[in-house]
Amino acid sequence: MSKLQAAITGVYGWAPEDVITNEDLSKMVDTNDEWIVTRTGVKERRILKDPTLSTSDMAANAIKGLLEKTGTKPEEIELIIVATITPDMIFPSCAAMTATKVGAKNAFAFDFNSACCGFLFGLETAAQFITSGKYKKVILVGADKMTTLTDYTNRNTCILFGDAAAAVLLEPNYEGLGVIDSVLHVDSTNWEHLCLKAGGAMKPASHETVDAHEHYIHQEGQPVFKLAVRAMAGSANAILKRNNLTGDDIQYLIPHQANKRIIDSTGHFMGLTEDKVCINIQKYGNTTAATIPLCMAEFAPQFKKGDNIILAAFGAGYSWGALYLKWAI
Ligand code: COA
Repeated sequence: MSKLQAAITGVYGWAPEDVITNEDLSKMVDTNDEWIVTRTGVKERRILKDPTLSTSDMAANAIKGLLEKTGTKPEEIELIIVATITPDMIFPSCAAMTATKVGAKNAFAFDFNSACCGFLFGLETAAQFITSGKYKKVILVGADKMTTLTDYTNRNTCILFGDAAAAVLLEPNYEGLGVIDSVLHVDSTNWEHLCLKAGGAMKPASHETVDAHEHYIHQEGQPVFKLAVRAMAGSANAILKRNNLTGDDIQYLIPHQANKRIIDSTGHFMGLTEDKVCINIQKYGNTTAATIPLCMAEFAPQFKKGDNIILAAFGAGYSWGALYLKWAI
């Protein structure tokens, strides 16, 4: 019997039904379908329109689907981690709201803010609760209602983001499957390139911050783009090297879906053929902490037990990294 590892034993993605297309956006800002598709790969995104619903509702929908799919009862869940930068409120936590909505009476729960690396860092964290031997059923959900942070008067950013949630169940595995290794980093030297300028303790909300649109995503696209390419490919290659793997040994790359050009270069630098790179950015845009599990849920039917899969992400912080897992389902 191999050592105790944390394996993903179920994955489920949920996105709201309402769609914003490139055509819709071209009526709101000076842009067009051709520019958006060539520069980003995004064709449409989902939007949670009902104002009475929030991030915890999306997270709860993803978890309910996951519980049904895996035949798990809510009372069996011991821990729920919600990776998000758009919690319902600053407090209480989105995870507490989510746990109650799904009836996870025996779980404790907490939020996890690592922006676009939320799922990646969250998976490394969630896995530790399993490999410590303390818990046997842990749920990690990436959920973001990005449309609440999106400035629909700013063409640089409003084309990029959408709303979604997706969840995975982690359980113990003794067959050598599950999370194997990770390479994770942060460096906040250039944090101003990608941030929400106001609303936190450093710059609380005021009339001035609202007037200046400082409660919306601020991104300096080009420097972020350049670093994202270097960091995602660099960490993915570092994890291959550390585990004596080459692109030929990898069945799938599930990258954070921020820009198709970044995804393509990551796959290229890893030496992967196109069919090994999981992409669904065209349908959802960047859903921040939800992109990787949402993409995993979509491609999972074609994964086989034992497949070598690399996850890679880059986001605000800056934060970046890659994780190597062996598919266990
Ligand atoms: N429609 C049409 N033109 C647009 C536009 C839009 N939606 N957005 C920007 N432009 C224009 C710019 O104004 C600029 O015009 P100018 O040359 O006359 O000044 C030109 O297009 C090029 O803009 P630029 O910002 O250099 O484009 P880009 O090729 O860098 O693409 C992003 C912009 C945002 C798509 C790209 O930089 C990106 O994906 N960045 C990284 C995103 C990311 O990974 N984030 C981390 C995780 S969230």
